[in-house]
Amino acid sequence: MSGLLPKSIPHVWAPPVKCQGIKTKLVGFISRNIAWDGAGRWVEPFLGSGVVLFNLLPERCLACDTNTHIIRLYQDVQNGAVTPRDVRDFLTAAGAELARHGADYYYAVRRQFNEEGGSLRLLFLNRSCFNGVMRFNSKGDFNVPFGHKPARFSKAYVTKITNQVAKTVEAMKGRDWTFKAQDWHTTLSQIEKDDFVYLDPPYVGRHTDYYNRWAKEDAETLAREAHQLPCGVALSMWKENRYRENDHLAASWADYAWRSFNHFYHVGPTEDLRSQMTEVLAIRHGSDAEPEAEPVLLKPVPTARRRVATSPSPAQLGFVLHDRARSSRSRRNTRRQSLTPRPTGVS
Ligand SMILES: C[S@@+](CC[C@H](N)C(=O)[O-])C[C@H]1O[C@@H](n2cnc3c(N)ncnc32)[C@H](O)[C@@H]1O
Repeated sequence: MSGLLPKSIPHVWAPPVKCQGIKTKLVGFISRNIAWDGAGRWVEPFLGSGVVLFNLLPERCLACDTNTHIIRLYQDVQNGAVTPRDVRDFLTAAGAELARHGADYYYAVRRQFNEEGGSLRLLFLNRSCFNGVMRFNSKGDFNVPFGHKPARFSKAYVTKITNQVAKTVEAMKGRDWTFKAQDWHTTLSQIEKDDFVYLDPPYVGRHTDYYNRWAKEDAETLAREAHQLPCGVALSMWKENRYRENDHLAASWADYAWRSFNHFYHVGPTEDLRSQMTEVLAIRHGSDAEPEAEPVLLKPVPTARRRVATSPSPAQLGFVLHDRARSSRSRRNTRRQSLTPRPTGVS
């Protein structure tokens, strides 16, 4: 295949799982700003929800994450261990139990998930937990409380999730995609020269949990190792919000082409985590057909910023701002997930 990227994606669709830092809003921006001929594999060492992969639709990919639950879900969907029908049946039945027993049922499913895992339970918890986040304690147990919506799984909502799984099945069909639960070091050690590597690591100091321990040193090591790769690379990273600037970008990725835009980022329950953010895509293109910098009009940034210029900068107006520098150019695994028994004492 040639010339996979850049391309525009008119309708971005959301995959069945949500996670912190999900790039749904950035998929179009990413796909328009990377040049890659598509000859090798699209590689995501930090897959998360998979929204970038599922919308880019490369012929070949290596999709990895240390979050074994997400990877297992996609492996299950790929090998038919979890079908859209399984999802509809499970969520319909579990949703009815949730409507009857509320939080008690949610916590019973959560307990069972933490003991046995289960892709269907993951979908249930991800969609009924507080704020739809995915967080695990230091022992690796899912620990998000109930989202207080016993009537969550309406017929329409179950259909929506079922359709997302069906679309995931469609996306995988006939494509050479591999999902692996592994650390990014291992993934980078498997890179070949025609591949393109999209890096979306956790934010330093944010969303820290069992699967998202990410320190400044990790970010620096990743930058060093990524610079050694023989192929195209792009990194998603926040650049600044109204309070802070990310020094790491300038320190470790200044030699890549930078494209950026501003958006409103939903990352958690508190107001400070909902602020406006400038995101950067730092790119070493994977082919010579590097896309021209294109202006992307987005919401303007409020003028009361840390350092206010005399006239608004392109960034403040919400345009793509700069190229910093031009680069050279089973049922196998799935335990049968019976519906969680009613919690004791609940009839
Ligand atoms: C910012 S999220 C990726 C979001 C994803 N691009 C999306 O749009 O949904 C970062 C991901 O990195 C994974 N992760 C954290 N530490 C990792 C490591 N050492 N190796 C591989 N994956 C890791 C987390 O489990 C999480 O899913």
